[in-house]
Amino acid sequence: MKRILITSALPYINGIKHLGNLVGSQLPADLYARYMRAKGHEVAFICATDEHGTPAELAAIENQKSTEEYCTEMWQVQKDLSDRFFLSFDFFGRSSSSSNHELTKQFAKNLDKNGLLKKVEETQLYSIEDKRFLPDRYVIGTCPECSYERARGDQCEHCTRQLEASELINPRSVLSGTKNLELIKTNHLYLMQSKLKDKLLEWIESNKNWPILTTSIAKKWLKDGEGLQDRSITRDLNWGIPVEKNGKQWEGMENKVFYVWFDAPIAYISSTVDWAMSKNEHSDYWKSWWLYDHGAENVHYVQFMAKDNIPFHTLSFPATLLGANSSWKLVDFIKGFNWLTYEGGKFSTSQKRGVFMNQALDLFPSDYWRWWLLSNAPETSDADFTWQSFQSSVNKDLADVLGNFVSRLTKFTLSKFGKLIPKGTEYGQDELDTISEIEKVFGKYDDAMTRIEIRKATSYLRKIWSIGNEYLQRSQPWMVIKTNEAEAAKIIRFGFNLMLFISDISDPFIPETAKKIKECIGNSYSNRQWPSVKQNFVSIFENVEVGEKVSPIENLFTKIEDGYVLDLEKQFGGIDN
Ligand code: 2FM
Ligand code: ZN
Repeated sequence: MKRILITSALPYINGIKHLGNLVGSQLPADLYARYMRAKGHEVAFICATDEHGTPAELAAIENQKSTEEYCTEMWQVQKDLSDRFFLSFDFFGRSSSSSNHELTKQFAKNLDKNGLLKKVEETQLYSIEDKRFLPDRYVIGTCPECSYERARGDQCEHCTRQLEASELINPRSVLSGTKNLELIKTNHLYLMQSKLKDKLLEWIESNKNWPILTTSIAKKWLKDGEGLQDRSITRDLNWGIPVEKNGKQWEGMENKVFYVWFDAPIAYISSTVDWAMSKNEHSDYWKSWWLYDHGAENVHYVQFMAKDNIPFHTLSFPATLLGANSSWKLVDFIKGFNWLTYEGGKFSTSQKRGVFMNQALDLFPSDYWRWWLLSNAPETSDADFTWQSFQSSVNKDLADVLGNFVSRLTKFTLSKFGKLIPKGTEYGQDELDTISEIEKVFGKYDDAMTRIEIRKATSYLRKIWSIGNEYLQRSQPWMVIKTNEAEAAKIIRFGFNLMLFISDISDPFIPETAKKIKECIGNSYSNRQWPSVKQNFVSIFENVEVGEKVSPIENLFTKIEDGYVLDLEKQFGGIDN
């Protein structure tokens, strides 16, 4: 048994996330967490809302609420949605928690002690019209790296370069649009990342098995030095973690808070602390996940995120961890994702373009979405959501293959075998051949899941569903029963064993359906171990008890009609349409 720590990039608190956000971190992280748990490993799957910084303040202003009130409400909204998507977090915390306040200040103190913080007088954009400083997302302008015209003051989402607001060309206020900005001098704390360059490079180079997307982004910013400039970790904002040391205001840092990108990743740790507290664990428990000298040397740590987050997780956060103390656990594997587009364009909150998590669940069950999103995950390149592709994947994969198999099997059994799974004859050549065909594909599926190659995994899973469906189609129990009841009974018994196997291995992708399928043969088949390629594979297909009572399964999947697709295209096309 291994110990697996999994974190998903923390969703910003500002509003409901769209499907692109979901598939870029939380959903694949859930897939992996479910898989690892089923394999019998000890898993800590941690997420939280990212509540500080300009996104939260701006959204609260828009909603005419105090930032605190807004964050508390939105945490609940996001938590409820993640439950409805069956995201199996062990803990869904908040970056505004008191443990994160404490830990963030502690990190700053240790970095300072190790000579890695310096006070820098910098010029900051001040808006005369808005009567305030404009840090980070309060300002947009042209990226000095790639000339993208809508780069934000903290990062250019086009080329992923981390920025200081004052570096933007032609800056303007997000609040009022004004370009009437002044540069005013003020003090900030800088993290001297450049001093950690060698350590970081060595660490990045030691991670040979990272996906290309992750390594190439990390190296790009490390090599040309832009990514490792010393950076300010404080901001002139009201909402956030006050810049304090030993319970007192940090000298010269009046009215400042820590930068959101400094405290957010620390919330991975503090949420583990909060999780441990919530289950009354001993005080060192969280350390066994995060500190090398407390057991974390045996932890395999995997992070999930969209590509714009990669520089923060390969450079800034590791710099914080390495700089504060040598015993913090560093990530072992970073799974990064490209973008999901919507019908050829960008998802847009302001333009109301695309599908958001709440809307998605009002339209279709979560498994329809989970299946489409995971089988089309933007792993090696961007992926495009279209309603037609969604329709085809639901109708073909889910309804025609998986749904058809389960529905024919259960309906036939209910009508011909008095609702009980019959024994019948021993398995013959067809069953044994089917098992060995499945064994081969399952081995590849299991491998792809271990390596987190999601699209590959989906195609193998789909293949196993087809093998089951084709077996039933080929063996025709509805015909066989007319002449040989014992033979038909065997087909049914094998069919239910196939169904149980399929349900077990489909759980990471479509947990609600997997559960529903299993429940048709009672409650004793829940929480089962992941099948192993090392065990006698035939014995896996002897698991369902003869005489087990079968209950009907209603509407496992409902097909999506063409006309409805047209309606949905119109409805979600954005305000221009
Ligand atoms: O890009 C984002 O959505 C950020 N809120 C991700 C933060 S991840 C972590 F480091 F906290
Ligand atoms: Zn850029």
